Amino acid sequence: MRKPFIAGNWKMNLDSSGAVQLAAEIVKHSSAFQGIDIAICPPAVYLLAVGGELENSAVALGAQNMYFEPSGAFTGEISGPMLRDVGCRYVILGHSERRHILGETDAEINRKIDAALAVDLNPILCVGELLEEREAGETEAVVEKQLSGSLQGISASQMSSVTIAYEPVWAIGTGKVATPEQAQEVHADLRRMIRDCYNAETADAVRIQYGGSVKPSNAANLLSQSDVDGALVGGASLNIEDFLGILAEAT
Ligand code: PGA
Repeated sequence: MRKPFIAGNWKMNLDSSGAVQLAAEIVKHSSAFQGIDIAICPPAVYLLAVGGELENSAVALGAQNMYFEPSGAFTGEISGPMLRDVGCRYVILGHSERRHILGETDAEINRKIDAALAVDLNPILCVGELLEEREAGETEAVVEKQLSGSLQGISASQMSSVTIAYEPVWAIGTGKVATPEQAQEVHADLRRMIRDCYNAETADAVRIQYGGSVKPSNAANLLSQSDVDGALVGGASLNIEDFLGILAEAT
């Protein structure tokens, strides 16, 4: 049985006091949500402050990105060891905003996943198609290319630390959520790809989150799908009632 995993991706939002306040509220209510894993991923500059609020709670800290080198002359970048140093357990890698706005490639994402695993950070690897790719019937091919490109050289045992997030780009921040059937179809495809690349045991164990306009009102239907193991939540994770509502649906 895969344990549901809900992660909040705060993206480039909030200020330091707002971030700390939101984290404190989530922690305050977190004991009500048993049997699920919860993580929040604030902007990097607030990781330390938010991490302080999460201490001794069941809510884990995650980052939204990292660089693949451990240290050195890489102005503006943040490394895996640094994320570990401030208490991160997770790191989102290959988010569509990084792929499409900042031009990240599968090869770079692959190096980042490798570097994250090397310091015991659990990557949340995002894949997902653009609207035109879905309309052209290319969804499966697009996510397969992203998945295989990003996981080059990652072993079956390392896969036990990896979460996959299926995030159709057309559903992110648009209010246009994938139907539960659309999500299930791609999640099942992804699990088959993992089975083909690795083995059945790895495929059965890997958690696949859905992301893209998840709200309390649609979470239950999405999470009821057999291959949907949680959610990566953007906009709704910034609103305490909405985030708690999603956690409640997952519990
Ligand atoms: P959204 O974002 O929930 O605001 O659509 C999801 C994400 O980008 O992870």
